[in-house]
Amino acid sequence: MKSPLTIALLLTSCIGAHAADLPNPLNDVDFLWNGTPDPKLYELGRSLFFDPVLSGNQNIACATCHDPARGTGDGVALSIGEGGSGFGPERVTQDGVIGRVPRNAQPLYNIGARAYTSMFHDGRLELDHMGGFPSRLRSPAKEQLPEGLDNALTAQAMFPVLSAVEMAGQPGENPVADAVSKRDFKQAWRLLAGRLAANPDYAQQFVTAFGDIEAADDIRFDHAATAIAAFETAAFRSDWSRFDARLAGWPMTADEEAGLDLFYGKAGCSSCHSGPLLTDHRFHAIAVPQIGPGKDQGSDGSYAAHSGYPHRVEDQGRFNVTGEQADLYAFRTPSLRNVALTGPWGHNGAFASLEDMVRHHLDAVASLASYTPAELPPLDAVIQPVRSRTGVSYLALSPMQRGAYDLRDIWVHSSERLRNEIARANTLAPVNLSDEEVSSILAFLKTLTDPTAVDRSYLVPTVLPSGLPPQPGHDDACLTDVPSLAGERVLPGKAEELPEPRCDGRGDKTRR
Ligand code: HEC
Ligand code: HEC
Repeated sequence: MKSPLTIALLLTSCIGAHAADLPNPLNDVDFLWNGTPDPKLYELGRSLFFDPVLSGNQNIACATCHDPARGTGDGVALSIGEGGSGFGPERVTQDGVIGRVPRNAQPLYNIGARAYTSMFHDGRLELDHMGGFPSRLRSPAKEQLPEGLDNALTAQAMFPVLSAVEMAGQPGENPVADAVSKRDFKQAWRLLAGRLAANPDYAQQFVTAFGDIEAADDIRFDHAATAIAAFETAAFRSDWSRFDARLAGWPMTADEEAGLDLFYGKAGCSSCHSGPLLTDHRFHAIAVPQIGPGKDQGSDGSYAAHSGYPHRVEDQGRFNVTGEQADLYAFRTPSLRNVALTGPWGHNGAFASLEDMVRHHLDAVASLASYTPAELPPLDAVIQPVRSRTGVSYLALSPMQRGAYDLRDIWVHSSERLRNEIARANTLAPVNLSDEEVSSILAFLKTLTDPTAVDRSYLVPTVLPSGLPPQPGHDDACLTDVPSLAGERVLPGKAEELPEPRCDGRGDKTRR
């Protein structure tokens, strides 16, 4: 009798197409901790990832924006950060917020792969052994980033807590936000580590998980970041897709196979979406339209002149990191693993449909020109700081101020001059594909979905050491049926319908 491996090899030789271009499958050694961090570290990281205790006002967790039941994102183009309540598209501003998170929450599938040496859409955090920083990482925290962070993923977890709009909150609201507003990041991390140390349950877990922690006083925030990275590495690994089965030699349907041929051939997708993660980890300008408030970059003063707000509206992507003209409006090629689950698509969620995102690539400049801005989650109440001698207070914008404020979401796209700059930077050559070919590519992209990734809400803990409710809140039904982590790895071999997500993820809106 032939072994499954022999059968697989026979099948491969029949399929044949572009076998040379296909990547090798992912292996344990491709991941930090060789894919299996110490369970004590993993469990600690798991608590921290879902615990609002890490946010200044204790009202938002990492998982609020990186929901394991929503493609490790939040299902909206631009997240509502701290001050919001509810989850996913249901999330609303409960307290007034200062603004939107300017970019789409990135999916975290396989983010523990060693191949990730940079983080964020613009790679502003990256390994840099020559850069002269003690941490050997180049980042917005510059020399404040501590030494000894082992990898970019661990270093990344130091940052969301420093973002006023994401997790820290506004000056005057809490001491962490105060430290952040003075750019005293070390103090912000110290305060958060102090919070964890003051909790006997957490303190005990840190002592057990780390060799260099003997007592609560030894806990630093980079320990927390290490545990979070360990959790992300194991929890969000996702290489059980039918594409993985294909790499091991199992066939796909004729349509999917045609899509694969196009992807690795005529359509040219694999020149950027290459390797087992379907990304080259490099930065390319492909003229994705801008929606949202931008990153306060660029030299255009038209919005400020019109609105009276001293805010610049552009997001210039990689250019803001390197200053190289060639990097204008360039963003990191995203991994396409589980791409059918991770919409809206593009660095700012500009495309609500995967097909539109793919079609954008066929003629990026034309697509930019004909683009209609996608809807963004409504911000019910926007506040602004009012400084006086006694401190800072926050006032809701008047309807007139609000009108001028909201214009920033569509300013760049409405400006022919700014739109043309995005178009001029484009490096993606047009490609001619028939409707049938586009549909084959879409069929291929769906083989990148790992059925075990559709709903991982079993990762959400039921209780947290802090006593705060874990975020996102899910129906109880979602918390049962926990698959074994140590289970046999079986590759799904045949085309099956994906299971529907079981949870609607709707949280308790009154929770804060
Ligand atoms: C308010 C929503 C929000 C919260 C809360 C949040 N994130 Fe994110 N996350 C984002 C957004 C948006 C980006 C992309 C930012 C950019 O490119 O500028 C991102 C990017 C990342 C990345 C980079 C992925 C990549 O491919 O480079 C990682 C890792 C990550 N977040 C982990 C975390 C962790 C860990 C926490 C908690 C400590 C957290 N996030 C909290 C929204 C959020
Ligand atoms: C020149 C490099 C390049 C080529 C070639 C390319 N892409 Fe992309 N792709 C990118 C970059 C860069 C982005 C992110 C752009 C942004 O967000 O501004 C992207 C985004 C995407 C996304 C959205 C993913 C997400 O998570 O938001 C999909 C889907 C996609 N590409 C599919 C394809 C397909 C299919 C092809 C072939 C027809 C292709 N790409 C060819 C560079 C490329």
